[in-house]
Amino acid sequence: MKRRHFLTLAAAGATSSLVAPSPWTRLNAATPMQQITAGKTRLNIAGAGQPDTDLWLYNQSCPGPMLRYRKGDVLRAEVRNNLDMATTIHWHGIRNLNEMDGVANLTQAPIEPGETFAYEFPLNDSGTYWYHAHNMGWEQVARGLYGPLIIDDDQDPDVDHDLCLMVDDWRLDNDAQIDQASMGGLHDWSHGGRLGNWLTVNGKSAPEFRVKDKARIRLRLISAANARIMTFQLTNAAATLIALDGAFCQPEQVTKITLAPAQRADVILDMDRGSIEIAEISTGEPYPAATLLVDPALGPSSHSKTPINTPKPAALPSLKQLRRIPIHMQGGAMGNLQTAMFEGAELSLRELAQKHKKLWAFNGQIGDYSTLFAEIDQNDLVSLDVYNDTAWRHAMHLHGHHFWVMSNDPTMALPTGQRDTWLMQPRERISLVFKADNPGLWLFHCHMLEHAASGMGAVLAID
Ligand code: C2O
Ligand code: CU
Repeated sequence: MKRRHFLTLAAAGATSSLVAPSPWTRLNAATPMQQITAGKTRLNIAGAGQPDTDLWLYNQSCPGPMLRYRKGDVLRAEVRNNLDMATTIHWHGIRNLNEMDGVANLTQAPIEPGETFAYEFPLNDSGTYWYHAHNMGWEQVARGLYGPLIIDDDQDPDVDHDLCLMVDDWRLDNDAQIDQASMGGLHDWSHGGRLGNWLTVNGKSAPEFRVKDKARIRLRLISAANARIMTFQLTNAAATLIALDGAFCQPEQVTKITLAPAQRADVILDMDRGSIEIAEISTGEPYPAATLLVDPALGPSSHSKTPINTPKPAALPSLKQLRRIPIHMQGGAMGNLQTAMFEGAELSLRELAQKHKKLWAFNGQIGDYSTLFAEIDQNDLVSLDVYNDTAWRHAMHLHGHHFWVMSNDPTMALPTGQRDTWLMQPRERISLVFKADNPGLWLFHCHMLEHAASGMGAVLAID
């Protein structure tokens, strides 16, 4: 396994224009090469009358450019690094080729300042995805290195408007600059992560979107927050949830949507009582996020009140031959982790925190990229049996695969489709079941990016 790892790194260094044929679908014609430059930009995100904020962005825009494809297309992107720090791009939720997954120091060498790297891979799944930096993500994503990735499907429902709302939670100081003092602070890392104090939607505060009267809207909500779990209230319209983390689910009426970091939700909104304001309500005090403003000049809706037809979610296979991998999550403030293994030595939590900034463990092991957590045979059906034995919520993300969520607790509301990021409550036990059909080295980690940096992650090897 170790040897393969290095072979992968070597191959990633030599840019090849060949794409391995997709195992799932016929490829459409290759799409044009996207140029994506990561660099420093000053931009207004704090609203009218506020100073511009120093950000790190893709193509000087916040969020980065909307990448939009059709299922079966090949995504080709040349990424240039104009930052002072090495970077990579991870294509979150895409069942990618392993060498295109963008995890610095695991699936590729980091892209050094001044260098470029070409990503090229088939898009076998449709839906709402996103891309973000995956080297020092806790800092690079917090400074703005992310953007939306949408893949259209022939079976998408017809709508009047298809709106993508990428939400973020920034921590700004009084001059509207990214708060430096809290960047990398151990207190946040051992608690709920680095929470912000400023909400943006598509890089703006409380933007307006003009829509037709009685419009049917597909709302694609994407959370780029580092740590905050947000809840959006959808009032004054009939809202039907149709997809989570890109994958279609059983359509379901909803009045609010909770998004943990990295999660997505697609909702069909049928507006029938004028304009609506979408508010973020997780703090108990509704905070305006965005307004959908009816504009009669746009004409009438052509899709209102027709049945919503979406493809059925993928069915869970028979669980007879299940490889179970128990994962005991411990650590953080108010937790029960006394000691853990780190770089071959057993260290106390105090030592781990103060000397190494490590705070979280799986099965007594601080996560790092040099140890394999589990070796899995290709095509095995796997259940990650995760026990969140911490005082905190965690947004657990698996790279390269989509999973079904299963529980022994009959009172728990489980998603009807597959997901790639699951929000765990303290003391929750859950089974994340997936078919290990994608070979390579894949991360399973918390998407509260400070938790991931301080040990809450593991490498699964599928061969
Ligand atoms: Cu969205 Cu490992 O990340
Ligand atoms: Cu976490």
